[in-house]
Amino acid sequence: MIYGIGTDLCDIRRITATLARKGDRFAEKVLGPSEIQVFRARRTRVESRGISYLATRFSAKEAFSKAIGLGMHMPMTWRACEILNLPSGKPEIRLHGELARWFSARGLVAHVTVTDEADHAASFVVVETQPLPPEAAP
Ligand SMILES: CC(C)(COP(=O)(O)OP(=O)(O)OC[C@H]1O[C@@H](n2cnc3c(N)ncnc32)[C@H](O)[C@@H]1OP(=O)(O)O)[C@@H](O)C(=O)NCCC(=O)NCCS
Repeated sequence: MIYGIGTDLCDIRRITATLARKGDRFAEKVLGPSEIQVFRARRTRVESRGISYLATRFSAKEAFSKAIGLGMHMPMTWRACEILNLPSGKPEIRLHGELARWFSARGLVAHVTVTDEADHAASFVVVETQPLPPEAAP
């Protein structure tokens, strides 16, 4: 059953400006431990690819915060929600700490998709409740 949906549209020019103003502190505030490594690797190769990565992650975290209904309020924090890619390229949400406990206590699973063009990044998240195993069904 669907628990919640969330969407977000992010202006990459604003991310570029914030990064220029605040430097890496901004990326370190938004990205989790695995994401920051991907960001740095992509940025080293092509600056704009790194910024697009930061923008899609920023967008997906906001979309996830809407899908769970908390917005950016505890236990939802930027760094506790990572959007990482499987070897196939498909993005998946990996949660940490108190947010991970909050999420699994409710038996939730999340699905995320992201996209970007020159100036915009967008994402969409669906959170659903896990179906009960047959033996637990009433
Ligand atoms: C939901 C949130 C994550 C997104 O807000 P935003 O990016 O400012 O605005 P958006 O246009 O993307 O989204 C706003 C919409 O989200 C929805 N929304 C707000 N709170 C929500 C919640 N708790 N759950 C689900 N949806 C929510 C509303 O529909 C709102 O639009 P409305 O008021 O016209 O109905 C916001 O609550 C928030 O906490 N933002 C934090 C942003 C921040 O910290 N920025 C600093 C960057 S370092």
